[in-house]
Amino acid sequence: MTRSKGRGTLKAVNGKIDVVLNVNGKDLALQVAPVEYLLDALRREGFKGVKRGCDNGDCGTCTVLLDGKPALSCMMFAAQAHRRSVVTIEGLGTPCEPHPIQTAFVEAGAVQCGFCIPGMVLSAKALLDENPDPDESAVRHALDGNLCRCTGYVKQVEAVRLAAKKMKKTAERKSAPTILASPRGRLVK
Ligand code: FES
Ligand code: FES
Repeated sequence: MTRSKGRGTLKAVNGKIDVVLNVNGKDLALQVAPVEYLLDALRREGFKGVKRGCDNGDCGTCTVLLDGKPALSCMMFAAQAHRRSVVTIEGLGTPCEPHPIQTAFVEAGAVQCGFCIPGMVLSAKALLDENPDPDESAVRHALDGNLCRCTGYVKQVEAVRLAAKKMKKTAERKSAPTILASPRGRLVK
């Protein structure tokens, strides 16, 4: 089987295709079956934050960012991600250094069992990258493909708006001029 992707032609040899995915900023060379789903390939490689829910394109728990946009990894073949950027929840923050969106979800009380949260956080990340100050309806629209069995979504919408505030503050702090005291005690910029 030959699969042409606009990023070179992929050929199956003995039922496997050699692909390179950029996962969380690092190139990952893999051999995949032509019909292996991205969800299965990522979980096989240890990215267990990518969750299998419905396996049918309905729940959003398998969401990853593909070239910065949310994509359902249960609905696309791993070979379709050849030479593209894939971000999973493992690429966002760590338990010691969580991403501000993750911190906001915890602070807002938006996490119950947690199963839907990786997908939701990634959908929120894509939204905030594009729109740093979304209103409630923009947040609801961005999360509407991510189903949650535990909550009523209110806290999660609050969490995304809280994350937006946190990220805005951080950006303002970074762009503020540094004011230093000169040796004579005068302030210099
Ligand atoms: S597992 Fe992919 S949408 Fe449900
Ligand atoms: S927190 Fe349990 S499914 Fe969403």
